[in-house]
Amino acid sequence: MLRLARFLLIPLALLAVTLLALAQTSRPASQPAVLAAFGEQPLVIAHRGGRGLWPENSLLAFQRASDLGVDMLEMDLRLSSDGELMVIHDRTLGRTTDGQGPVAALSREQLQALDAGYRWSADGGQSYPYRGQGVRIPTFAEVLERFPEQAKVIEIKVPDVGMEAQLCAALEAHQQRDRVIVGSFYDRSLQLFREQCPGVATSAGPASVRLLVALNWLGLGGLLSPSYQALQIPEQHDGLQIASPRMLQTAQERGLNVQLWTINEQPSMRRLFDLGAQALITDYPDRALQVLGRSTRIGALPE
Ligand code: G3P
Ligand code: CA
Repeated sequence: MLRLARFLLIPLALLAVTLLALAQTSRPASQPAVLAAFGEQPLVIAHRGGRGLWPENSLLAFQRASDLGVDMLEMDLRLSSDGELMVIHDRTLGRTTDGQGPVAALSREQLQALDAGYRWSADGGQSYPYRGQGVRIPTFAEVLERFPEQAKVIEIKVPDVGMEAQLCAALEAHQQRDRVIVGSFYDRSLQLFREQCPGVATSAGPASVRLLVALNWLGLGGLLSPSYQALQIPEQHDGLQIASPRMLQTAQERGLNVQLWTINEQPSMRRLFDLGAQALITDYPDRALQVLGRSTRIGALPE
């Protein structure tokens, strides 16, 4: 027994010293300019521009969400075959447009010839009010040009094709480095983007989220020095509660802005704002604005 205690003593002492050193050197994230502009108010982020209300990831959606008074526009980036950054979610065209096949197989011109309002319906397919209305897949440059002041959440959907440097160059060219939070489900893509575009706010990739969940579970969240400023997470994942009150508290103590996706029902919106979520990413930004008691202006939007 004594021998076992002696055997464990050195590793445990080393672990204690390491944890102490980490605790003393850990630093919370500092608030990025894109969020500082909002102060303490809870944020409403239009998921793909508010895909429950109008065709997703379109200029029409972004314009209407902006007119509605949302705080941030969320959008997804892919590359065309001729290397243009395009704003579209899926790998293939069939779900949202009248085209078929991979986005990456078509040029910008071919992609922009498609009808991006073709599949949108609010009544389960009885009517398609945006067919033939000129709704197109926008280039990222078009979005930056049209909405220079609007804060944006930008998701890199494809790793390993050089989008990180291209995205950084586009933000630089349009002077919008301080208007965005960049996220991705690919940790290596985020790591590369942070190296290539230092100072631009990012959200946690999956590995960082897992680390935060684990540290929080062990009561060691205070050891974390995040290389990101926002935590974009679902409330649950694989049956596991991610957005627990303690998790939200830990994240906020580490300086992170907690942005939950994709929250579409008002009871959940109320509950999560009450829990301390700082932002909700939603297909129905009108509902979230209403929950917060902010004017939705939806009735006044032009047709
Ligand atoms: O912000 C995260 C959220 O956008 C992820 O969902 O599938 O719409 O890209 P998805
Ligand atoms: Ca997205």
